[in-house]
Amino acid sequence: MQQDLSGKIAVVTGAGRGLGKAIADVLAGRGAHVVITDRTLKPAEEAADVVRARGERASPIAFDVAEQRQVEEAFRKIREAYDRVDILINNAGIGDFVSFPEISPEKWDRMINIHLKGSFNCCQAVLAGMKEQKYGKIVNVSSVAGKRGDFIGNAHYTAAKAGIIGLTKSLALYAAPFGINVNAIAPGLVATELSDEMSGEMKATTISRIPAGRLGRPEEIARATAFLVSEDASYIFGETLSVNGGSYMD
Ligand SMILES: NC(=O)c1ccc[n+]([C@@H]2O[C@H](COP(=O)([O-])OP(=O)(O)OC[C@H]3O[C@@H](n4cnc5c(N)ncnc54)[C@H](O)[C@@H]3O)[C@@H](O)[C@H]2O)c1
Repeated sequence: MQQDLSGKIAVVTGAGRGLGKAIADVLAGRGAHVVITDRTLKPAEEAADVVRARGERASPIAFDVAEQRQVEEAFRKIREAYDRVDILINNAGIGDFVSFPEISPEKWDRMINIHLKGSFNCCQAVLAGMKEQKYGKIVNVSSVAGKRGDFIGNAHYTAAKAGIIGLTKSLALYAAPFGINVNAIAPGLVATELSDEMSGEMKATTISRIPAGRLGRPEEIARATAFLVSEDASYIFGETLSVNGGSYMD
């Protein structure tokens, strides 16, 4: 089976809950050993316990993706324990549903640091090993907001997510000759605790613009992500795959 991930070591950031947890679940179900990371250990441990209870492989580790030293140290430990990283999913992120005038410089920096610098930090931490092993799959989690902008506001979020698309393309160009596929995924609004932070009115407006007529389910994003890290996607490089219920087509 082209989507069998047996023996692969997969690191998923922000996987203590939400989309990251769903992605870790699907990758583990296909045979990967998933390293479940989050900013704090408890949610990562709990998510790893759920995977292990099914008889699949998972281990937890905590680090803040925005802090380069923590990232380097964590990936050093991961390599020490498992010898390699085959798959990296840069999923960790935050929401902040505010209009343009409410974006303070602090909010701007925090958003860019977690989403964009966080993805960059983790990509850098795995790249040398992936080059050496001549194999790697990286998926960066962008958003429909990064492709289209967001009518709700969130310019700091949309800028970070658009930046992730640029990061993905440039890194894909660099890494392809080494046998590394770098791609991104751009989910529409998905039912998670992050989207629960939206007001009811914002959510209703967003849903009214989704041709599929409903929010995405975390497992729908997870399965599309699993496709991108599988051999079925071996000739896909620098793509940002939309999984958005038809809410934006490019
Ligand atoms: N839910 C949606 O509608 C939606 C849509 C498009 C894109 N996304 C993106 O998908 C990703 C996951 O979103 P979600 O809805 O599952 O959110 P969520 O809030 O449910 O989960 C995010 C996870 O990331 C972790 N995290 C946050 N900051 C971190 C940091 N600095 N270091 C390490 N971990 C950190 C959190 O602790 C949490 O476990 C995000 O990048 C988000 O922007 C979500």
